[in-house]
Amino acid sequence: MSKITIAIDGYSSCGKSTLAKALAAHLGYAYADSGAMYRCVTLYAFKKGVIKDGSFLPEEIIKLLNEIKLGFEFNPITKSSDTFLNGENVEKEIRQMFVSETVSKISAIHEVRVHMIAIQRDLGKNKGIVMDGRDIGTNVFPNAELKLFMTADTDIRTQRRFDELTFKGQHVSFGEVRLNLIQRDHEDTHRKENPLIQASDAILLDNSDLSRDQQLEYVVNLIHKLSAYSQNK
Ligand code: DC
Repeated sequence: MSKITIAIDGYSSCGKSTLAKALAAHLGYAYADSGAMYRCVTLYAFKKGVIKDGSFLPEEIIKLLNEIKLGFEFNPITKSSDTFLNGENVEKEIRQMFVSETVSKISAIHEVRVHMIAIQRDLGKNKGIVMDGRDIGTNVFPNAELKLFMTADTDIRTQRRFDELTFKGQHVSFGEVRLNLIQRDHEDTHRKENPLIQASDAILLDNSDLSRDQQLEYVVNLIHKLSAYSQNK
């Protein structure tokens, strides 16, 4: 089958990136984490002192956009892709709680979205890409051949994110992580522009009771069916 575009959207911390990375590795596709891009803008704005105590002026954020260069590089040690902000590896920093607590608000700014979506479309212009986020199937790649919409039980998602952060040495409480997920889901689903919604042609995947291997196997089977269907057309 010729290369396709795979769009994975869904709620915070339901394993979108894990599935997207595994799928990209399995298919030999590129992987792009669109959430990491919004996180980079947020981190940069913190570093520039434009976000203070969680507050900011949107016009100050917009002014920073042209100073931001984003990149992704494969890390052979973690076997995953690292995010670079102006040449610096910020993969760990962008996952910190202070970024998570503000990123949904930054991602709701119209100009920020327009800027990021242009970069995302450019990354996917040759297909052969798996991109995860909130509006990939609805807005970034509305013609993606495969769209998944992921969800999982809130406590299971919290436990996964809590384990990930504590494993990385961050000091967070379960309650703090849970509250952040609920708040981000609310902001992401209620914002005016490109809110998180399931595309009408997306396949719903609730992975509450699935292991990483099981969800990968499920999606690989879907791709085989898609391929068989497109060959018989
Ligand atoms: O996937 P993530 O949790 O790292 O994303 C961080 C935030 O970025 C998320 O709360 C909403 C925003 N986001 C977005 O608005 N659109 C996307 N395509 C991806 C992420």
